[in-house]
Amino acid sequence: MNNVAYISGQFVEQSNAKVSIEDRGFQFGDGIYEVIKLYNGKLFKADEHFKRLLSSADLIRLKVKHTLEELKEIALEVIDKNTDNQSGSLYIQVTRGVSPRNHSFNLDLDPTIIMYLLPPQPFPEELWQSGVNAVTLLDTRWSYCNIKTTNLLPNILANQEAKDQGAFEGFFVSPDNVVIEGTSSNVFIIKDGVVMTHPITNKLLSGITREVVLELAKEDFEAKEITFTVEELYDADEVFLTSTTKEVLGVIEVDGRKIHDGKIGPITRKLHSSYRNYIEDINNF
Ligand code: PDD
Repeated sequence: MNNVAYISGQFVEQSNAKVSIEDRGFQFGDGIYEVIKLYNGKLFKADEHFKRLLSSADLIRLKVKHTLEELKEIALEVIDKNTDNQSGSLYIQVTRGVSPRNHSFNLDLDPTIIMYLLPPQPFPEELWQSGVNAVTLLDTRWSYCNIKTTNLLPNILANQEAKDQGAFEGFFVSPDNVVIEGTSSNVFIIKDGVVMTHPITNKLLSGITREVVLELAKEDFEAKEITFTVEELYDADEVFLTSTTKEVLGVIEVDGRKIHDGKIGPITRKLHSSYRNYIEDINNF
């Protein structure tokens, strides 16, 4: 089976998983989400993702009535019921629930919780070998980018703009020229052997992959959480992005300019292989 979804207490065929037209997630984007990668049927960093989900919920004053452990149990049941899909991702969305349309909300609404499996993304393995290109785009988002909200309009418009410009990813840049993060990824540069990424603030999402990669980087290299400008990005020896589904992905061109020699660099390769080894190690645990 490959199409059983969980929706607010029930496991149903995905085609029967329906939400009300008055769900605040549908009307206002009033919700939060997580994407957790499955490796051989096991969730990677489930606790960290569920912790971030509950933190996002707190930040938007949404009371999830389940504990982290209860949410994890539901997730495991979804995986159990979808035995055909062992290498996609688990998508989790919690919205504030259903109520007559009104901007302000009732604090006691029953949240809508959905979980289902996304099929493995058609992400060609070659891209990890060849690298991708990116463009920089002005960050027009709000002041709470640390919340993983379903309200993704600025991100999807920026991602589409990047695609329209022939790029794989768009990198958000602040008005004072600082590189913040990708439209759905975190950004790293390497200069003179030092691995750098934007520090965690309200301006970006605290990526789970970012966290793991930083820890791995510290084992072999110098790694710093520090801001860098667009010029420093262009001038980097290596650039890569991280996300749950893209892992560690080399970026070889930004805004039409080659990064260094236009090839994925040795530190990026090393970090991707460390990341893959780390996944294997915890999967075999
Ligand atoms: N996106 N920054 C943004 C804005 C993101 O949307 C994401 C992830 C990340 C990386 O976070 P993580 O390493 O925890 O996946 C950073 C997910 C994958 C998505 O929206 O599909």
